[in-house]
Amino acid sequence: MFSDTLTVVREFCRSPVHTGALSPSSRRLAEAVTVVVPGTGDPVVVELGPGTGPFTGAIQRRLDGRGRHLAVEVNPRFAEVVSARFPEVEVVRGDAARLVALLEENGVGAADAVVSGLPWAVFAPRVQRSILTAVAASLAPGGAFTTFTYEHARPLPAAIRFRRLLGTVFEEVVTGRTVWANLPPAVVYHARRPRPGHPPPGTAGGGTGP
Ligand SMILES: C[S@@+](CC[C@H](N)C(=O)[O-])C[C@H]1O[C@@H](n2cnc3c(N)ncnc32)[C@H](O)[C@@H]1O
Repeated sequence: MFSDTLTVVREFCRSPVHTGALSPSSRRLAEAVTVVVPGTGDPVVVELGPGTGPFTGAIQRRLDGRGRHLAVEVNPRFAEVVSARFPEVEVVRGDAARLVALLEENGVGAADAVVSGLPWAVFAPRVQRSILTAVAASLAPGGAFTTFTYEHARPLPAAIRFRRLLGTVFEEVVTGRTVWANLPPAVVYHARRPRPGHPPPGTAGGGTGP
């Protein structure tokens, strides 16, 4: 939707480091990143950084009324857009690095799936680490995490550092095929089984603020 692109551009101008993109993800990327949503039962699905909601809609279609869907968004304007557009979604305003505490506050012990729309490549190393640690600490046994990165950014130091970090936090990391029908093209990472020792004691739930 053109108005969604305008919203993203406006928020990018206000806060480039948190927004990290100039247009919402495509339906194709949303389908690829949300395959992690369990197809049966009543799963708890946590979405990080919904923005204007391209992944939110895809998660809702997959859930089709089952389970719970919490969307954690740090930007109050995006949080309002998603709340208005998807009344069934529990929108939680906050920092993904505080995920463990945010889930607890909302009566959730663990997530069956975590879907991230966060702009990892623009995050400082400390921020990447604290959010990934919180994701690992929030997953239920057998739970899975998906995220994406832009194809053109993969050779950049921050993206390389993030891919390495994924491998230090999770035992299994599978890189999906490039989704060309996205601006810019992107790849999806599928991660499972946090390694023993993740999170290190006392490190989850800290927040990414200064
Ligand atoms: C690149 S946009 C992606 C939006 C949407 N998922 C998409 O793919 O079009 C990144 C989103 O992450 C949010 N965000 C950035 N840092 C965050 C944080 N620490 N906690 C929660 N949300 C965050 C931004 O406000 C923005 O909505």
